Amino acid sequence: MIQRIDHLGIAVNKLEEAIPLYEKALGLKCERIEEVATQKVRTAFFTVGGTHLELLEPTAEDSPIAKFLKDRGEGVHHVAFATDDLLGQLAQAKGAGLRLINEAPVPGAGGKQVAFLHPKSTRGVLTELCTDGQH
Ligand code: CO
Repeated sequence: MIQRIDHLGIAVNKLEEAIPLYEKALGLKCERIEEVATQKVRTAFFTVGGTHLELLEPTAEDSPIAKFLKDRGEGVHHVAFATDDLLGQLAQAKGAGLRLINEAPVPGAGGKQVAFLHPKSTRGVLTELCTDGQH
């Protein structure tokens, strides 16, 4: 079952340039920066109420975030839903005819398992399903 929106992923060119925007202009506090090798990104986490913002900076030219920035520029990249049954949720999405980017969960930020649904099958919204974890 989907429990909540876990986080919004936001693609940025440089974390060091984007973090001050959220800290100074909105008064949020960057909690941690983490590199996620499997996704070729560095992430900065902010907590906003019961959900989070995940700023994403590419660490390689072939990072999915590098491609996104090149095609569309900085902006909202994905919506992540926390679920208590990631495998069941993936099966449900597949059964509903959605295209899975990850047929099986992969390690994400914060020690979570994550899987992405292709935006071409979700009305243009890259959708992440994730387990509950540290974040
Ligand atoms: Co995410």
